[in-house]
Amino acid sequence: MKLGFVGVGKIATSVIEGIFKAKINVKEMILSPRNKKNSKSLKNKFKKIKIAKSNQEVLDKSNWIVLSVTPKVGKQILGKLKFRKNHTVLNFISTIHNQELKKIIYPAKQIFKIAPLPMIKYNLGPIIIYPKNKIVEKFFNMLGKVIATNNEKENKKLWVLTSFMATYLEIYNTAHKWFVKRGINENKSKEYINHLFKALNNELLKNSHYSTDKMIKEFQTKGGINAELLKRLKKSGIFKNLNNGFDKIYNRIKKS
Ligand SMILES: NC(=O)c1ccc[n+]([C@@H]2O[C@H](COP(=O)([O-])OP(=O)(O)OC[C@H]3O[C@@H](n4cnc5c(N)ncnc54)[C@H](OP(=O)(O)O)[C@@H]3O)[C@@H](O)[C@H]2O)c1
Repeated sequence: MKLGFVGVGKIATSVIEGIFKAKINVKEMILSPRNKKNSKSLKNKFKKIKIAKSNQEVLDKSNWIVLSVTPKVGKQILGKLKFRKNHTVLNFISTIHNQELKKIIYPAKQIFKIAPLPMIKYNLGPIIIYPKNKIVEKFFNMLGKVIATNNEKENKKLWVLTSFMATYLEIYNTAHKWFVKRGINENKSKEYINHLFKALNNELLKNSHYSTDKMIKEFQTKGGINAELLKRLKKSGIFKNLNNGFDKIYNRIKKS
């Protein structure tokens, strides 16, 4: 496989790191010149990487093409590039869907919408793939947990939760800052919260068939401090707002 990247930003860099970590057999990797700093630093790290002089050169020298630019840039540049019929295209662009892309990059037809997340660099995290395809799924199964679907509506719904990462981290950050403000040492604070989150995630993973509603009840003592905090937060509307936020993101993804 000759794998080309158009756009070498945050997520492409994580995917490339993940591919080399997983020791996937890629014959050659061709990167677009932008972002220069990222391309150069990846080339210095991994021998198989070459930097092309233009986006067109990436296409000409690769058979699998990753599109990893922002939607705005994608709309500006993709129509001007010459794709081949036999290109396999991995579309990372959140709000350009395969149907729209098919018209822009004709005659390329083998298009897969992929949602990798930054944790892919450690070969961790969910990776949404639409539509299903054995070869594409086999490739990404080495990089994380593939969640594949042939249903476009389902694909769009699954993408909504890719918006949740920064919010999850902000919950962590709020707890950490609360500790530090009250004089807990930074390392001790992170040590405590890391182990708390790890253990709770483990609980969820180990009991994935168990009702989470029941689990939440079991993690509270009547009148205890878990019950109090949850009650206060529910009253503040935080979970209703989270739900509304997911709806808004879904509308944005649906409309695009
Ligand atoms: N970050 C995530 O977790 C994530 C997850 C799933 C999907 N995605 C999607 O992946 C895409 C990229 O996201 P990102 O977070 O990696 O954004 P990013 O860091 O901004 O990366 C975009 C890259 O595109 C480059 N670029 C700009 N103009 C270009 C051009 N004309 N030709 C080639 N490259 C060009 C930029 O280079 P310069 O720096 O030189 O401008 C930048 O390095 C987005 O569509 C996003 O929705 C992201």
